[in-house]
Amino acid sequence: MQSTGNTILITGGGSGIGRGLAEALQAQGNHVIIAGRRKALLEEVVSANPGMKSLVLDIEDRTTIRALAGRIASEHPQLNVLINNAGIMRAEDLKDQQDDLSDAEAIVTTNLLGPIRLTAALLPLLRKHEHSTIINVSSGLAFVPLAFTPTYCATKAALHSYTQSLRYQLRDTTTEVLEIIPPYVQTELMDGAEDPRAMPLKAYIAETMELLKTQPTPAEICVKNVHGLRFAAEEGRYDGTFQGLNGAMAGRFE
Ligand SMILES: NC(=O)c1ccc[n+]([C@@H]2O[C@H](COP(=O)([O-])OP(=O)(O)OC[C@H]3O[C@@H](n4cnc5c(N)ncnc54)[C@H](OP(=O)(O)O)[C@@H]3O)[C@@H](O)[C@H]2O)c1
Repeated sequence: MQSTGNTILITGGGSGIGRGLAEALQAQGNHVIIAGRRKALLEEVVSANPGMKSLVLDIEDRTTIRALAGRIASEHPQLNVLINNAGIMRAEDLKDQQDDLSDAEAIVTTNLLGPIRLTAALLPLLRKHEHSTIINVSSGLAFVPLAFTPTYCATKAALHSYTQSLRYQLRDTTTEVLEIIPPYVQTELMDGAEDPRAMPLKAYIAETMELLKTQPTPAEICVKNVHGLRFAAEEGRYDGTFQGLNGAMAGRFE
């Protein structure tokens, strides 16, 4: 990935990891457009970062995604980087579920269908450029699930798989496909902003930005704190890691 001179769309760029990446990428000399549902929040971030742009997007809504892609093609045709970062995480008790499974459906639509739809809508534009990059934000929980958030972990495992297929299908094109795999980071996601077990956001963004600058950029952006989850299976530690993770987090969910 080029370090500077990109025009970048970051979904969920109004808060947490998305905002952190948006600000760091802009500081590095890129044009950044953030997208999300909360217009006031987006405007606040834009006014704190002159030059940044924002677009309202509900990634659960396929018509909004198409409209956004149309606006980008006419207003920001130079867009060459898409960061699929927007996501939601909810606890689910599989022994006592909602009749309509509305949480599970929202999680799948936001975390998996959303990136699939937005990538499809923007790929023709991205492919017009000499260099373009698609970055999907998955999670360490794609590799070892936190059982209290089953659909969330399933969507992240699916996004990891989809990302590999996308990378393979685009291997002979000028569009590279990367995956950011965060560990537990202090953000609003499931009220983790104050949890001392989570990695401070600032440190997470700084380490991620260093990895993104590496040339050639690694296909998977894994800060050290996520290695325990990401490589649990490869290193023969899966069962112990699964038990340890779910035991350690049980207090938060049971
Ligand atoms: N924090 C962690 O521990 C952690 C670990 C691994 C992976 N991740 C992943 O990192 C990504 C960013 O999460 P975060 O931790 O930074 O949490 P966050 O602060 O809650 O950010 C999530 C962002 O997604 C946006 N979003 C949610 N639903 C949306 C929708 N329907 N349409 C458009 N935007 C939507 C939200 O904006 P609006 O509400 O304004 O729409 C929000 O800005 C997520 O994909 C998450 O799964 C986080």
